[in-house]
Amino acid sequence: MPHTDPIPSATAYPSTTVRPHPVMRTATLRRYLMCPPSHFDVTYSINPWMEPEKPVDADKALVQWENLRTLYRDLGHTVEEIEPIPGLPDMVFAANGATVVDGKVLGARFRHVERTAEGPAYLNWFKDHGYGDIHWPEHINEGEGDYLVVGRRLLAGTGFRTDARSHAEAQEYFGLPVTGLVLVNPKHYHLDTALAVLSDHEIMYYPAAFSPGSQKVLKEMFPDAIVATDEDAAVFGLNALSDGRHVLLPETATQLAADLRKRGFEPIGVDLTELLKAGGSVKCCTLELRES
Ligand code: ARG
Repeated sequence: MPHTDPIPSATAYPSTTVRPHPVMRTATLRRYLMCPPSHFDVTYSINPWMEPEKPVDADKALVQWENLRTLYRDLGHTVEEIEPIPGLPDMVFAANGATVVDGKVLGARFRHVERTAEGPAYLNWFKDHGYGDIHWPEHINEGEGDYLVVGRRLLAGTGFRTDARSHAEAQEYFGLPVTGLVLVNPKHYHLDTALAVLSDHEIMYYPAAFSPGSQKVLKEMFPDAIVATDEDAAVFGLNALSDGRHVLLPETATQLAADLRKRGFEPIGVDLTELLKAGGSVKCCTLELRES
């Protein structure tokens, strides 16, 4: 009588097929700073998305921006607003205004003269709103455009805007490890156009936007990251914001949305096409205020 496999015990093989339990994603309530696009326009070009000869629909931009603000509030987040200043059409991109971690504010110092006045404008908002620990930077840095917080460390972009010397300045000021990453594709001129933080230890990103060495660093740090397709990167799909459960991203980034769903996140597509004419979307419009 040939030997057959032993009958598996009930405990080893439950009667129904066991699927891995989907990860339960929990949102944490956040505080964001936003700037209404009241003076939004594309009057100069400091990134390849900006074509001043193309008309901008200011009313549509405002409606799209208001929809994003409503979405945040409906999800339970707090949205603070800073007064927009005439003559600063890019001020709507609040992410660039500062970097805030543990209630400490690292001010922004812009690369282009067209935006330099935004640095002090944002800094004043923090002064007026009770922030006691504020650092005016020595080196050029474009706030959370190039600084992204993942758990208790920062990822920091350079190559187009933020000066690499700012990375040491940020590390010293916040007392948190900062990992520098070099951007090489002008369409992804800020880190938040090429990489999005999903949770304290997960990201999604577009490898081709980074130098070979930085690609290796990201692979080493985040071997399980979601990798964006060329198509999704091209529609700014990585300019996304996660609260740990909901991920707000440009609605055209369909593959990213599918990948996020597979991992238990809830992707929410947002239409910000008018703001994209200046090279910005969800994340660019949002500055997270992280308290201590
Ligand atoms: N027109 C702006 C610039 O080139 C867009 C900034 C987008 N902000 C961002 N966080 N990526 O500076």
